[in-house]
Amino acid sequence: MTLENIKKEYIEKVKSVVDEKELYELRVKFLGKKGKLTEIMKEAKNLSPEERPAFGKTINEIKNYINDHIEETKQILINKAIEAKLSKETIDVTLPSKKVTLGGMNPLNKVIEEIEELFISMGYSVAEGPEVETDKFNFEMLNLPKDHPARDMQDSFYITEELLMRTQTSPVQAREMLKAQGRGPIKIICPGKVFRRDNDDATHSHQFTQIEGLVVDKNITFSDLKGTLEYLIKSLFGENKKIRLRPSFFPFTEPSVEVDISWGNEDDEENIKWLEILGAGMVHPNVLKMAGFDPEEYSGFAFGMGPERIAMLKYGISDIRSFYTNDVRFLEQFNNDRND
Ligand code: PHE
Repeated sequence: MTLENIKKEYIEKVKSVVDEKELYELRVKFLGKKGKLTEIMKEAKNLSPEERPAFGKTINEIKNYINDHIEETKQILINKAIEAKLSKETIDVTLPSKKVTLGGMNPLNKVIEEIEELFISMGYSVAEGPEVETDKFNFEMLNLPKDHPARDMQDSFYITEELLMRTQTSPVQAREMLKAQGRGPIKIICPGKVFRRDNDDATHSHQFTQIEGLVVDKNITFSDLKGTLEYLIKSLFGENKKIRLRPSFFPFTEPSVEVDISWGNEDDEENIKWLEILGAGMVHPNVLKMAGFDPEEYSGFAFGMGPERIAMLKYGISDIRSFYTNDVRFLEQFNNDRND
């Protein structure tokens, strides 16, 4: 094979090379240790000394030619590969976008937040307490000594003799009063989970939430309580709502009331329907005393409500379990922020 033929052969072969791998193989074939040019070098010894320099020179020229050509071809192939990749990955900006649906707040949390904001605007602060509570705070400090019959009002989950899942948010009252060390004013609301032994059905749940309210200061009267509750109910349900207080009993308040809200027919006094909505009363002197307040100097009111019940009335929800089961079809109905 002549030198010129080797070059021709290379030029012919390189035309059909499609990628870097094939190009590399071609390089090995022509320039490699056992490549065509290396092989043909061996023939130099058969030439006369006069012929050799010209032969060597031509080989070098072909070598350089192939070498440079391969480098150029390599760049071209790389660029082609990038172009092919880019055109395959082109983004079609005219495609319609996918809809993003934003999540919404659970109606129960909405109501809790609304109530919190209302009280914060009246100068209250938000206090929280433990869900696993001691018997002392859940009952005794609230004027419910052991064996008090009123303990039966709240079937409890006991963990040990002294520890239970709190049955109400009222223990937070006692904790906050103790913290205040006998000095008012206290103005707090305490939202949180509570637990009672109950069979779950449309209106009962073994776990639900409460929001407790407590105000302790000098000269706090029953009319302060009534005014606060009236304001709360009208803000939540509308100006036309009326409230009715019925005498009731809670061991930690005296006097105690249950509060009803008017439901339908507000203009027709005779035919108003009343729904019970919360419990309240003036803080019992024993509770003040146990928490380090002088009942001669200080008085207070407290109230406790169930946000589930409020949310059920407000949004017409008939099953309390809907709040907890995370059924998107239920939750979606309260999602005002949806953007679809
Ligand atoms: N803790 C009471 C309950 O769970 C509600 C309540 C709170 C009543 C504060 C009066 C004052 O039934």
